[in-house]
Amino acid sequence: MKITVVGTGYVGLVTGTCLAETGNDVLCVDIDKNKVAKMQNGEVPIYEPHLDILFERNINAGRLKFTTELEEGLTHGQIIFLALPTPEDEDGSADLSYVLGVAENIGKLMTDYKVIVDKSTVPVGTAEKVTAVVAKHATVDFDVVSNPEFLREGFAVDDFLKPERIVIGSSSEKATQLMERLYKPFVRSGNPIIIMDEKSAELTKYAANSFLATKITFMNEIANFCEKVGADVDKVRIGMGTDSRIGKRFLFPGIGYGGSCFPKDVKALHKSGKDNLYNFQILDAVINVNNKQKTALIPKVVSHLGEDLSGKTIAIWGLAFKPETDDIREAPSLYIIDELLSRGATLKAFDPEAMDNVQRKLGDKITYADSMYDAIENTDALIICTEWSIFRTPNFQKLRENLKAPIIFDGRNLYDIAEMEKEGFTYFSIGRKN
Ligand code: UGA
Repeated sequence: MKITVVGTGYVGLVTGTCLAETGNDVLCVDIDKNKVAKMQNGEVPIYEPHLDILFERNINAGRLKFTTELEEGLTHGQIIFLALPTPEDEDGSADLSYVLGVAENIGKLMTDYKVIVDKSTVPVGTAEKVTAVVAKHATVDFDVVSNPEFLREGFAVDDFLKPERIVIGSSSEKATQLMERLYKPFVRSGNPIIIMDEKSAELTKYAANSFLATKITFMNEIANFCEKVGADVDKVRIGMGTDSRIGKRFLFPGIGYGGSCFPKDVKALHKSGKDNLYNFQILDAVINVNNKQKTALIPKVVSHLGEDLSGKTIAIWGLAFKPETDDIREAPSLYIIDELLSRGATLKAFDPEAMDNVQRKLGDKITYADSMYDAIENTDALIICTEWSIFRTPNFQKLRENLKAPIIFDGRNLYDIAEMEKEGFTYFSIGRKN
């Protein structure tokens, strides 16, 4: 099938590349000339595991191409995916100007039947708005479909190729059939393609992300309470998670959820509620608790090292909002860095992928280390913000030698408490006995 993907952020790029992988002829459109030139040269503009292999293979096979021209994209594809940014507005709602701007141009440029697919996470009612905007200018027939993505950064390729479900919001038989044909190769294992109306599909995405954010936040509150009463959240987590109604996943407490999705989507659903005279009290609590959780390590640092951290050098392992990504949007590390800097600390950080992004944001406010061990050299303590695999089994002897004092504040509960005691560390974590 001939597919056009407008927007080559991580969703658009993964969508385009994976659709090419099943033999479709894909053209990706982006207004960023530099980015398009790089992609035409075979350069993947984001870090996403396995994407490079598929990217190269499909470019070489001539199934994956790039352009800056929307008109060329519209001539090419019968299905037009909109994978455009929906940044958070000042009031927490999703800014639809990119989506509606492109929709208007599609309406003006379209010369034959198209299925326009909302892939971006957009508020309930957006398909209706896109339809209205396209219809205002269109001279030919078209359908608008909502097809939310459930890709996790770091696992996006795998999630796309083997989805647990595909959600399609469509009220057109013709568009539904085309979408089912497109996705059939990805659900051979029997996972469902769920067809529903556009609004329900739009809400499904927000409900799923907000539920997961709530699950994490609930666990973070249980962890905080464990600390008060001397219980161990790891034990509670396993005790709870083995109930299949609860499930083991997304129960890991830590220093809060971050990234480009959960924070934005929870706020957008909350705002959407307000706009429709519904007060999502639970989401209000989730937002507040998560904001606080990002700096949950700070009171522990302060109680151990003092309120005034001037003269202290602290190492930070992990800057990305989670492992396997260079994404630092809403990363708890940034909030922690801010708090530590305001107390006068000197900071030395290491992250396997995200240091360039942090350097662009923070410049020389902190030092960037060449390795995880370089980061801890001559520092007064280590703070762990991201659970990268290489941090899970460090050389403890090297840690003891490099740190001025063997103190670790772990925001991701990477180590066994008894082992840390044996290894001679003063070890603080989340929701466990310190
Ligand atoms: C999330 C969803 O998992 C995807 O299904 C969805 O498609 C995506 O948002 C999106 O809307 O585009 P993502 O933001 O990439 O994916 O990352 P997750 O792996 O879900 O992690 C989100 C945050 O929750 C991270 O900060 C992570 O550290 C935190 N988390 C996750 C916990 O604190 N505890 C857990 O047990 C799980």
